[in-house]
Amino acid sequence: MTENVLEIKDLKVHFPIHIGTVKAIEGVSLDLGQGDVMGLVGESGCGKSTLGFSILRLLSTPGFFAGGSIKYHGRDILKMTESEVLDLRGKNIGMIFQDPLTSLNPLFKVGQQFVETIRTHESGLSKREATDRAAAMLECLGITTARLNEYPHQMSGGMRQRIMIGLALVLSPDVLIADEPTTSLDVIVGAQFLDLLKELQRQFNLSILLISHDLGVVAQLSDRITVMYGGRVAESGLVGQVFGNPLHPYTRGLLASIPNIRLDKPALETMPGNTPDLVNPPPGCVFHPRCPRVMDVCRRERPRTTGADEHLAACWLYS
Ligand SMILES: Nc1ncnc2c1ncn2[C@@H]1O[C@H](COP(=O)(O)OP(=O)(O)O)[C@@H](O)[C@H]1O
Ligand SMILES: [Mg+2]
Repeated sequence: MTENVLEIKDLKVHFPIHIGTVKAIEGVSLDLGQGDVMGLVGESGCGKSTLGFSILRLLSTPGFFAGGSIKYHGRDILKMTESEVLDLRGKNIGMIFQDPLTSLNPLFKVGQQFVETIRTHESGLSKREATDRAAAMLECLGITTARLNEYPHQMSGGMRQRIMIGLALVLSPDVLIADEPTTSLDVIVGAQFLDLLKELQRQFNLSILLISHDLGVVAQLSDRITVMYGGRVAESGLVGQVFGNPLHPYTRGLLASIPNIRLDKPALETMPGNTPDLVNPPPGCVFHPRCPRVMDVCRRERPRTTGADEHLAACWLYS
């Protein structure tokens, strides 16, 4: 067993809005092991990004933590002071997003953004030293240092995404949260970016939480997978376990909806029904209104999480 860098226990994140409270995360537990890549998958709106932002304590208003804990090397992030959290962001935990343009400042050259990021955390460093460190980071990414003199808009989407990961890693965090990092890239550039991510993961022994609605993306990189549905964890396990022997009917539905070229399936099986209303979630198991294997108990009681050999599912079929 490797040490866990992150341990999320029974996390709850709520957004009170005019029509009620959006229970975006409703009791999620998840561990990220040192040097592991954990893929977080599920349909749009299931709470993946909220979970990612929670780890950096960056909830958008009116969100708040309604319960649980998020431990980074044993220290609860939710109990840290504001300045401790500021220190944690970037230095210990880096994050990259779907759209690099929203996180890169269009007004500043890339080099200035590196220097700014580095000196925010290490104020003792001279501009020269910070620039040298930025150049070394670019070298790791296979980017010429001349790029430091360019503005973000002068770069392609793939190049901007590389710059983003450079900024996320330049302070040597040991955890990286990557939220849909390839969704805005075309297929080839996205595949190259995933290769780069894998290479960096090995080089720096990074622990990565890789968030994607695309099972193909997480399958390529992840050691483990957590499947979310309606703000809860439906299933988790090693990639081979979850893909080879999916337990939860929701996971089975997700896998069946992937086009399989080799099997030459004529059409995609899509899962009937809508994602759940998180203001008034269905009682019992949130998936029960869409579940092909629904039983009486599923409509009444929330399933416990059970399983063996780290392959777990929250489903009454296994309780
Ligand atoms: N600032 C907010 N105010 C109200 N609801 C929000 C806010 N941010 C997220 N939500 C809700 O939380 C749920 C989870 O959203 P999100 O984490 O973005 O899902 P995903 O990343 O899986 O698509 C959604 O129902 C979304 O509408
Ligand atoms: Mg999202």
